[in-house]
Amino acid sequence: MSWELLLWVLALCALLLLVVQLLRFLRADGDLTLLWAEWQGRRPEWELTDMVVWVTGASSGIGEELAYQLSKLGVSLVLSARRVPELERVKRRCLENSNLKEKDILVLPLDLTDTGSHEVATKAVLQEFGRIDILVNNGGISQRSLCMDTSLDVYRKLIELNYLGTVSLTKCVLPYMIERKKGKIVTVNSLLGIIAAPLSSGYCASKHALRGFFNGLRTELATYPGIIVSNICPGPVQSNIVANSLAGEVTKTIGNGGDQSYKMATSRCVRLMLISMANDLKEVWISEHPFLAVVYLWQYMPTWAWWITNKMGKKRIENFKSGVDADSSYFNILKRKHD
Ligand SMILES: NC(=O)c1ccc[n+]([C@@H]2O[C@H](COP(=O)([O-])OP(=O)(O)OC[C@H]3O[C@@H](n4cnc5c(N)ncnc54)[C@H](OP(=O)(O)O)[C@@H]3O)[C@@H](O)[C@H]2O)c1
Repeated sequence: MSWELLLWVLALCALLLLVVQLLRFLRADGDLTLLWAEWQGRRPEWELTDMVVWVTGASSGIGEELAYQLSKLGVSLVLSARRVPELERVKRRCLENSNLKEKDILVLPLDLTDTGSHEVATKAVLQEFGRIDILVNNGGISQRSLCMDTSLDVYRKLIELNYLGTVSLTKCVLPYMIERKKGKIVTVNSLLGIIAAPLSSGYCASKHALRGFFNGLRTELATYPGIIVSNICPGPVQSNIVANSLAGEVTKTIGNGGDQSYKMATSRCVRLMLISMANDLKEVWISEHPFLAVVYLWQYMPTWAWWITNKMGKKRIENFKSGVDADSSYFNILKRKHD
């Protein structure tokens, strides 16, 4: 074969690879490393079975669905949040739909803002199961209000709950993982821990802080390769997060979750979370376009990202002010995809 022909073949292969990657990207609902792990990696069913997993925020949304999918894998579960009746309901459903027995699931009430109680709660888990293989820091709240209409108490609450509450619980569990040289700390962050959006400045701040904390912690744990620190960053997912968002005052929530149909199904988000946990991925982005494309822009082309974010942000504020769901402009793109 002549050199010229060989070069043509190589160029064609490169072009083909580019087209395949582009097609993969257009259809993606998570970052490409995560989807690659889904396609060829270790399965949650093989990796997580028989583990002891502590899930915070297990009374609703992502944490609740995580409890259902984990229970089917045969893990021992600790379910934490503030609302005990909701946790008991989740426990009952886990027992109905899995082979777990009553003794395999501990309902452990926990308020993330009550940091003084976290050590006692950690000891209660250890007393029940003897170890904690995975801590899933999932509990949290969001915000829907412009900075100028938001009291300082809202900013304080978001930091105390989303950031300090998570840091506190992690600090209680970590010594036991270090002792065993083994464990996973999985934190449900958000795309808003990487990018930014109007109406959520306090939420963004709390999630950016979490990402900084866990990235820093990971570097400190480099001498413990058996301890995995993982940031899970979802985009919009079906749950009560918007309804429970703080609306300018700590005593006021949005109350209405709006149209959920355009958001990612909770079950798909959780399946991708489990794949990330099974494959020890350090950070994953779970979202459909246009949000996934925007986060890639933030990572690789920040100048363009700001231009687009400002355009999208302007629309978000207009929607919010006129009383429709802040993200309704993307409904049509995503609904078309879902239909
Ligand atoms: N859904 C999304 O679009 C989305 C996107 C990106 C990231 N996330 C993140 O995903 C996580 C779960 O949210 P979700 O979407 O599942 O919302 P959700 O349905 O509102 O669930 C939030 C959970 O957090 C718990 N929680 C709230 N305040 C708490 C406190 N003081 N102490 C302990 N637990 C508390 C709630 O339980 P109690 O009220 O019973 O305490 C509930 O179980 C959050 O960290 C959120 O930031 C969600």
